[in-house]
Amino acid sequence: MSELNNIALKILKNGKGILAADESTGTMTKRLDSVNVQSTPENRLLFRETLFCAASMSESIGGVILYDETIKQKTSKKKSVPELILNMGSYPGIKVDTGAKVLAGSPDEKITEGLDGLRERLKEYYKLGAKFTKWRGVYNISKKYPSKLSIQSNAHALARYSALVQECNMVPIVEPEVLMDGDHSAKDCFSKTSEVLKKCFEELIFHKVDLKGIILKPNMILAGNKCKDKISNDEVAKLTLECLKNSVPSEVPGIAFLSGGQSEIEATENLNLINKNNNTNFIMSFSYGRALQQSALKFWSNDIQNIEGTQKIFNHRAKMNMLAAQGKWSKDLENQ
Ligand code: 13P
Repeated sequence: MSELNNIALKILKNGKGILAADESTGTMTKRLDSVNVQSTPENRLLFRETLFCAASMSESIGGVILYDETIKQKTSKKKSVPELILNMGSYPGIKVDTGAKVLAGSPDEKITEGLDGLRERLKEYYKLGAKFTKWRGVYNISKKYPSKLSIQSNAHALARYSALVQECNMVPIVEPEVLMDGDHSAKDCFSKTSEVLKKCFEELIFHKVDLKGIILKPNMILAGNKCKDKISNDEVAKLTLECLKNSVPSEVPGIAFLSGGQSEIEATENLNLINKNNNTNFIMSFSYGRALQQSALKFWSNDIQNIEGTQKIFNHRAKMNMLAAQGKWSKDLENQ
């Protein structure tokens, strides 16, 4: 088994998933503003360190995606953040794209940047302890979007990124996110997501990326948040499985979904149903940001020194998602 395949499997084994704590300073500031906590480097670290020291880090979280600021910070015990995460039994990872910018030629869409100088940055992150990385491409969805240009250019960037990351002995998380915003139907989400994924894999293969050494981080198949025809959770699971089965090569060891604006419970319930009905060979787990942190952040904001209380809430969410990643979650367990 290749070393990269081994890392990917370790991150996702036995229902473990990924904590996406890689909000850029801008996004984290929005999150902290929403709960009236001042966004300083110290407060950003305090919240994150509180989660990284929680018991669920050993039990349910196989990897943590960090942001550039955090991977370079020292914890209250004067350790580096990657050291803390490794000691808790999880793998540190790093977001390496530099954000989604206006796509020249199709200004309503975005292209993710960050390839210039990436090889050098990767070497630095590797030395700091990163075992895996993340790059997120984002796709608007409507009748005319995503355009061929957006699908092609983001797939190309994801593939160039992945090849450079594997060259540096880390596992690339490949994240093509078809957004939930809009009034599109689940059927539209299915067809556009399929097109996006197929193009991504075409480019990954063209760029000689070892598919056994990546983790795919896709969206689930959902109706747009402004669509009147919502579908059931069972339908979400069915369509998501069908889409991935048809579009993802079987060599890919694991799939870790983003939550993308679903509520915490919705994200857990959908993941559970996907696993209950999983008729593929892929591990299906989570790489959630908001759906793992929302309640913990809200609780923490009332008393930022209440570490134990915050960890209790985070541990519960992490455990529920670990159960869901094995198809063992239930409403009763949720409410216990
Ligand atoms: P959400 O789960 O909040 O969508 O975040 C996941 C992520 O990492 C987006 O890039």
